[in-house]
Amino acid sequence: MINELIIPRPDDMHLHLREGEMLKVVSQHSASQFGRAIIMPNLKNPIINIELAHIYCDEIKKYTKSYQFEPLMAIYFNEGLNLEELKKIKASSKVIGIKLYPKGVTTNSNKGIESFELGYKIFEMMEELDIPLLIHGEVNDISVDIFDREKIFIEKHLTRVHKEFPKLRIVLEHISTKDATEFVKETSNKIAATITPQHLLYNRNELFLGGFRPHAFCLPVLKREEHRVAVLDAAISGNSKFFLGTDSAPHKRSEKESSCGCAGIYSALNAMEIYAEIFDRNDAIEKLMDFSSKFGADFYKLNQSKEKLKLIRSRNKVPTTIKIDDDEIIPLMAGQEIGWNCSEI
Ligand code: DOR
Ligand code: ZN
Repeated sequence: MINELIIPRPDDMHLHLREGEMLKVVSQHSASQFGRAIIMPNLKNPIINIELAHIYCDEIKKYTKSYQFEPLMAIYFNEGLNLEELKKIKASSKVIGIKLYPKGVTTNSNKGIESFELGYKIFEMMEELDIPLLIHGEVNDISVDIFDREKIFIEKHLTRVHKEFPKLRIVLEHISTKDATEFVKETSNKIAATITPQHLLYNRNELFLGGFRPHAFCLPVLKREEHRVAVLDAAISGNSKFFLGTDSAPHKRSEKESSCGCAGIYSALNAMEIYAEIFDRNDAIEKLMDFSSKFGADFYKLNQSKEKLKLIRSRNKVPTTIKIDDDEIIPLMAGQEIGWNCSEI
C-alpha cells in the first residue's frame, strides 16, 4: 500500500480566484498546494485584454508571495481580440490562453460570444500563433435540456471548430459526460480536457440528497452515474489528454443558498487531498502524479515543476465552513473525513 507520495508541485489548469477579500483568502489556499494555476477571467468586469490580465496577475502575486506560485492568466474571449492584441498575448509570459464562454452559459458570462461563427476569424489567428483556446463547452440555448448541453455543444460547435482549425490547441473544460470523454479520446492530440473533483465524486443524485443541495450545484451540472464513471475512467486511465483542473469556484453561502443560487463548487483548500482520496478509492493512486503534475504542463508546453509536494496517508477532515468577510464558503466535502494530507517536504 502506498502511504506517501512525493510529486512535482501540481498545476491546477482551471481555477477561479475572484477579487477583493475572496481573492486574498482563496488564492492562498491554492498556492499552498499548486505551483501554477490557470486563472479564469470571468470577473464581474472580465479580463478582456493583456493590460487587465497583467494587473490581475500582479494582484494575485501580491497575496501569494510567500508561496512558490505562478498564476497563468487566461483572457476572456471577445470580439476586440485583433491580431495586434493576439501577438501581445502570445509574447506575454504571464498569459497562457483565451477562455471562451458562450453568452449566458454560466457565472459572469453575459459578455460571452453570441454566435460561434463570429469567433472564426479569431480562431484562425489563434491557430496560426499557436495560442490555446479554453472552452466552456455547453450550448447557451435554454430550450436544450440542461443535462444535454455539453453533448450538443460538442456535436454542434466543437466538432466543427476542430475540423476547421485542426492545429488549434483546445481544452474542453470541466468535462461531465461520456460523450466528452469519447470526443477527446477520438480526436487528435490538439484536444484535451480538464477534470474537476466534483465530476469524479458525484452523479446528479447528489443535488437532491434528502433535499436540494445548492453547494453541489455547478456548471456543467452533475450528470447520470454512467457519465461520472466515464469521466472517472478517463482521469485514472493514464491518457495524457485528461488532466487536473479543479474549477474551484467560490461563492458566498448567501449567494448559493438563495432563490437563484450561483453555480460553482469550492474545492481549492483541500483540492490535492480530495483528488488523492478519489484516485486512492479507485486503486489508482499511482496515476495521480501524471494527471496533476505532467499532462497539463505538457499540453501547455510548460516544464514540469522542480519543486515537490508531499501527500501522506493520514486522517484529515475538510472544514465545514471557511470565513470570508461577514459570510462564509461551504467547501466540497464539507465536514467529511478523507484519508490524505498535504505535508511539508
Ligand atoms: O459552476 C461553475 N462556476 N461553472 C462555471 O463555468 C463558472 C463557475 C464560476 O465562475 O462560478
Ligand atoms: Zn470555471
